[in-house]
Amino acid sequence: MLVRTLLAIDSPRELKRIRTLLGGPGVLLSTVGKKTALWEGAGSEPFDLLVTVRGALSEPAGETLRAIRDLPYSPDVIVVSSQENAEERAELLAAGCLAVVNLELDDDTLRESLASLVERRRENSRLRLLSRPDDQRLGDFVSSSPSMSQLLSIARRVAASDTTLLILGETGVGKEWVARGIHAEGPRSGGAFLAINCGAIPEGLLESELFGHKEGAFTGATSDRRGHFELAHGGTLFLDEIGEMSSQVQVKLLRALQEKTIQPVGSERLIPVDVRVMAATNRDPVEEMEAGRLRRDLYYRLGVVTLVVPPLRERREDIPDLVANYFEIYRVRLGRAVYGIDRNAMEALVEHDWPGNVRELINVMERAVLLCTQEEITLADLPPSIAGVRPSPIAGSSGLAESSDVPLDESWLRLPLPEARREAAAAFERRYLSALLELTGGQIGETARQAGVSPRALFERMKQLGLRKEDFKRVRPPEA
Ligand SMILES: Nc1ncnc2c1ncn2[C@@H]1O[C@H](COP(=O)(O)OP(=O)(O)OP(=O)(O)O)[C@@H](O)[C@H]1O
Ligand SMILES: [Mg+2]
Repeated sequence: MLVRTLLAIDSPRELKRIRTLLGGPGVLLSTVGKKTALWEGAGSEPFDLLVTVRGALSEPAGETLRAIRDLPYSPDVIVVSSQENAEERAELLAAGCLAVVNLELDDDTLRESLASLVERRRENSRLRLLSRPDDQRLGDFVSSSPSMSQLLSIARRVAASDTTLLILGETGVGKEWVARGIHAEGPRSGGAFLAINCGAIPEGLLESELFGHKEGAFTGATSDRRGHFELAHGGTLFLDEIGEMSSQVQVKLLRALQEKTIQPVGSERLIPVDVRVMAATNRDPVEEMEAGRLRRDLYYRLGVVTLVVPPLRERREDIPDLVANYFEIYRVRLGRAVYGIDRNAMEALVEHDWPGNVRELINVMERAVLLCTQEEITLADLPPSIAGVRPSPIAGSSGLAESSDVPLDESWLRLPLPEARREAAAAFERRYLSALLELTGGQIGETARQAGVSPRALFERMKQLGLRKEDFKRVRPPEA
């Protein structure tokens, strides 16, 4: 997601420095000249982040910051300051400023801290705008197909009960949304909805993540930790990618479901818990059972009610609505003067098979709105695989740009450099991660370690890039 950043800094030298350090893929910079204009000048143009100096915030600063936070998209504010002033810093942070950044830092450190603030903002907006966990109600589901209506009506019925649920469906079909919707419309809506992605957590840690652990239970357990079962008490625990759980953890999970008590790793104590469990998987559970990866007893216990969310290609009626919905979100979000989608483009979108389902559709719409230079989105704004044309990579004429270079996709030439760089980076990332996953046999923990990122971040990125770890898995060694 693009982070629109407004710079309101009066010193030309400082402005130039911040521009250079902050600019990059995924950041759209604009500048407000006069400090009085500050955010008012940008009132019509949405932005996510304001980088400014203390002097530009009219007094009282607390109120000004609140007014900024009240603008659409609740922008975050970063104050840059050329002197370290602890009192001022405390005052600004207390008033709701995201961060106060000292300009005395050297370029590299400053670049890094700005980048991490942008990342934080990006993550916050993503959660707020696209997955708004609290608003994901069944009624907000964009769909008009008979198969989804039927699914939603069953979902409403089971919402009122406390039964365990198993939600099946391909990646990106909306399983988590269904789970959140059922939670939000059931008697537990006042309690927490905690989601845990069993595939994103290294195998050895999942047990402690679910049930907690006692200090000293294993190397690295330096203090007691509460597990998700305990934290979700009174609410719902959503176990995503249940097929990724080791047999040992499956046994413990079954016991927790049957006895409604948990036992933290390394502890003697049994803790009673009141949690509704919903589980999801994008694999075929019967096949998983036959292959010995999913325990039968657990499957029957979880699947008291099983919901299957159909893939998008089996409910094409939903595509136009979804396209319109995400078109509007990104049109506003990216502030583009685009007014619609032409017939050919819509036809191509409806005909596409969507292996990544709604998640893929969301990415395609973001890209199309970004690429569009006309009033309407046309075939030219869609990825070649959807528009039905073959990409025509412009091969390097020097003869050097063969296999080692990312081929230049013609559509990049219609993007501003930062966005083109972002797309090229994604293409590179897909290749890099595929190669690394190939080497590790699809092990998330090991791949993340080698790539120097957290397993969670890796998993999320893989989803965005449409990579599935099971495609890299070697035959599993038998469980000990
Ligand atoms: N009917 C819908 N209307 C609007 N948005 C939807 C709909 N279905 C799914 N989405 C969006 O699509 C994205 C993917 O949905 P979700 O995370 O629920 O899928 P999932 O089935 O859990 O995927 P995975 O198997 O990869 O975990 C989310 O951003 C969600 O908000
Ligand atoms: Mg999911």
